[in-house]
Amino acid sequence: MTGCTGGPGTPRGGTSQTGTTPSFQPGAEGVGDPYFPGYGNGGYDVSSYHLRVRYDPATDRLTGDATITATATEDLSRFNLDLTGLTVTSVRVDGVDAEEEHDDAELIITPADGLVRGAEFTVDVGYEGVPSPVTSPDLGVGGFIATDDGGIALGQPESASTWFPVNDHPVDKATYDIEITVPEGLTALSNGVPGGNRTADGWTTWRWSERTPMASYLTTVVIGDYRVTTGTHAGKPLVTAIAASLPEGGGAEASIARTGEIADFLATRFGPYPFEAYGGVVVAEEEIRYALETQSRPVYGPTFFRSGPNDWVVAHELAHQWFGNSVSIQRWSDLWLNEGFASYAEWLWEEHDGGNTAQRNFETEYARTDWSSPTLDPGRAGLFGRAVYKRGALTVHALRLAMGDDVFFRFLRTWTAEKRDGNVTTADLITVAERVSGRPLRPLFDAWLSGTTPPAIPGG
Ligand code: TRP
Ligand code: ZN
Repeated sequence: MTGCTGGPGTPRGGTSQTGTTPSFQPGAEGVGDPYFPGYGNGGYDVSSYHLRVRYDPATDRLTGDATITATATEDLSRFNLDLTGLTVTSVRVDGVDAEEEHDDAELIITPADGLVRGAEFTVDVGYEGVPSPVTSPDLGVGGFIATDDGGIALGQPESASTWFPVNDHPVDKATYDIEITVPEGLTALSNGVPGGNRTADGWTTWRWSERTPMASYLTTVVIGDYRVTTGTHAGKPLVTAIAASLPEGGGAEASIARTGEIADFLATRFGPYPFEAYGGVVVAEEEIRYALETQSRPVYGPTFFRSGPNDWVVAHELAHQWFGNSVSIQRWSDLWLNEGFASYAEWLWEEHDGGNTAQRNFETEYARTDWSSPTLDPGRAGLFGRAVYKRGALTVHALRLAMGDDVFFRFLRTWTAEKRDGNVTTADLITVAERVSGRPLRPLFDAWLSGTTPPAIPGG
């Protein structure tokens, strides 16, 4: 299409920042991730979400109001947000009613005026309904799960779009202010710094804010009956919560109590802790069989602590605060950049805490690895498989053996500092590793990430 698209009226300001007459086009309905073509959207970049959500566990109904501040990266006639299920009741762009069309997962918004590239705009979306989780055969359950007395929003690679309209891909990180209103007596937890709570007319509103850019899959909401501990660690808020139905003084409590200590240890290896708050939430629902590194406050399923304390899972989720959350992937096929390093952190922690050495864990894992599955680009169905986690950790240790400890840990701190709040690829990692070490490392990465036979152990 050339010239004015006709659809949306005149551009605000008349000409684009390039000085030419804008040709308004629809934004793409995905960011172009080969594994998940529908995730995220093109044509704009979100800087902040302000979410006000009310949830009533008696009816499972959620009522939401999202204010999204974004900048157009193209001259847009319309654009999409991801919203799965739920009913949209109103959409305004820069305070003016906009047209909307909502199919199952895409909310298509046509503003009254085209959006000029470079212009900041705000979108207000009112929505409501009974949220439902998303299940996929290869990825498991994600999204908003109603529980007996509350609800939990959690999942990777998707979950956010089941409870708010979002540009749902890690390339578009943003800050968040989250207000959750629940019946008085229940707790509502989320990411970042606590902003307190207020009760009126039998409803309590809990406020949370995450001021460091966050990928959408790292957002969480946990509503229910929780034992909450609020304190500070290293001068920052530390909020931990254990489901009230879990035993007092049990393994969950003992493990989560080590959050500050474990984060401090990891900081000695990875560089300064990247966020403004610390924490952790242990839920009671058995169907949450995982933990997730939700930003600044991971959520843990109950099964990890069934037979006592488990600090390796805490080390894993806290390591993600550096690897995955602060330094984020650009495409899901690079997930080993998160999981390989978080799995390696388990070995570092175990060694530090008096258990097996990382070298010992490496040897054990090397011997039982099936080298036919690739770590890099594992396929959608292989995203959360052993090759990404364990073979990923083997790759990290192989790099350490090739570099030597001093260079290796300097490389880790360089990587987390240079790429802080950014998005990265495996090629970026290799570039920094080669620069810091002064050695060619591409053959090592190729063999350990993608080869189909047992790779030669450096120095071995
Ligand atoms: N990233 C999580 C971890 O390594 C695991 C995970 C994958 C997960 N998909 C999930 C957790 C969905 C909760 C829900 O710790
Ligand atoms: Zn992980």
